[in-house]
Amino acid sequence: MAETRDTWGTKIGLILAMAGNAVGLGNFWRFPYQAASNGGGSFMIPYFFALFLLGIPLMLVEWTQGRTGGKYGHGTVAPMLYLHAREAVSPSAAAIIGALGGMFAFSVMALLTSYYSQIIGWTLGYSYLSLTGAYMDKAVNTGQFFVNYIQNPVYVFVFWGIALVLMAYTVSGGVQGGIEKWASVMMPILYVFGVILAIRAITLGAPVKPEWSAIKGLDYLWEPRWADLTWKSALAAAGQIFFTLSVGMGIIQNYASYLKPDDDIVLSGLATVSLNEFAEVILGGSIAIPIAYAYLGPKGVGAGVGLSFISLPNVFRDLPGGQLWGAMWFFLLFIAGFTSAIAMFNYLAAMLEEDAGINRRVGAYVAALTFFIIGLPVALEPILTKTADLAYLTELDNWVGSYFLVVLGLIEVLVTATMWGHGAWEEMNRGAYVKVPKWYFDIFMRWITPIYIAVILFFSTLDYAKGGYFSFNPDTLVKYLGVDPKLGPWVLTARIVIIVVLVIGFFVSYKSIKRSYGEEIAQGKVLIRR
Ligand code: PHE
Repeated sequence: MAETRDTWGTKIGLILAMAGNAVGLGNFWRFPYQAASNGGGSFMIPYFFALFLLGIPLMLVEWTQGRTGGKYGHGTVAPMLYLHAREAVSPSAAAIIGALGGMFAFSVMALLTSYYSQIIGWTLGYSYLSLTGAYMDKAVNTGQFFVNYIQNPVYVFVFWGIALVLMAYTVSGGVQGGIEKWASVMMPILYVFGVILAIRAITLGAPVKPEWSAIKGLDYLWEPRWADLTWKSALAAAGQIFFTLSVGMGIIQNYASYLKPDDDIVLSGLATVSLNEFAEVILGGSIAIPIAYAYLGPKGVGAGVGLSFISLPNVFRDLPGGQLWGAMWFFLLFIAGFTSAIAMFNYLAAMLEEDAGINRRVGAYVAALTFFIIGLPVALEPILTKTADLAYLTELDNWVGSYFLVVLGLIEVLVTATMWGHGAWEEMNRGAYVKVPKWYFDIFMRWITPIYIAVILFFSTLDYAKGGYFSFNPDTLVKYLGVDPKLGPWVLTARIVIIVVLVIGFFVSYKSIKRSYGEEIAQGKVLIRR
């Protein structure tokens, strides 16, 4: 099996594919509104703490898990965790741990992609509508325009469908022949567009009011405000780090499983983090926020989720050449989302290939069909209910886009760093151009990182409990979430779907481990070593 596994063609191709995986809507769409609605400069303090204490260690742990998995022919999280856990506990205990981790990775893959691919569809639709000038007229209310878009089945299904098919096509070409090839073309375009847009944004001056300047928008983000620091912003910042780096999702491990057993991990992992952070804090932070500040003032910056799709179109039509700026912005979002979501497609394709013997050409299209079916409620809610609260999407995002990542991250670091310990440290450093120092591994990776994550998880759980997230009473749900009362059933459905997917995820993960290591589990000792 190991000889037939696809591998990355070149180092630069690998790094671009990994950067494509990490740089996503999280950087350009999620980061600006998270930062803005959590106090700007006060958000950036816990953000950098989380980057160094959670993001970087987890990135290295995940590359290590992935490379080990690949050596044994696995591209999914459950058997990868099993392989590391069995170094510290009995095979049967390791199988349970692996299945639990696999369960969260499976749920994130299935459910996050079900709504993320929907948003990718919007970005494609908006690229097209920018080019045609559909929202250029001042009489168009951009908020209403967005509502009309998500309630229009033709727009929604056509652009979502195109995106799904293109992603399946890319992934069906294989790791080297599809993902690497496309990322090598798309990522440079993304950075060029990002730099052009950022320069345009920060040179806007103060077109509306002298006190609203683009540079003030940057100050808002970069002036540290220790006094405004809150628990809420610390939790949001940690969540953002998980999301933006794609850690706690399983897809970094999947890409790393196509490394060769002695390929460098440490420097390559750090390169991925650097490319992502450049795209996030430098580019992502210098486009939407300064533009919104210059045109709409401090209030506009706090616009939340609608910042990209509602506030910015307002601004583009005031700019000379606004159709092109708009198209460039939405196409940048499209590329960012596309090169991330294909990692989810590949995760599912790898799973189908390894556990069900389905050829990846076919598997990639099965993945598209699966995401289409699971994503139907996301698409249909606004269309059928004539609302725009996106309650089903929001509910999924609250769980799989934030909470689950933290849980999986905790399991991962506990298994590889805390439990396995020095063997993992040696494994991580094998083939490394620069090595992780032992003291850093011992103090940070083994202890500080898991404790930090556990604290975040504890307070998030309290918050979720207070917010009614554990309730199954539709009325409570609607009240807490503040959505249109008729959306209660949609929120409830989301919770039921999450539970069903978790259960399925546990069983398929356990089966996947048992298929390869059943004999070890039965005998209680390690038999297979590569
Ligand atoms: N890091 C990605 C992002 O920022 C996370 C992601 C990957 C989300 C793949 C969905 C699918 O957008």
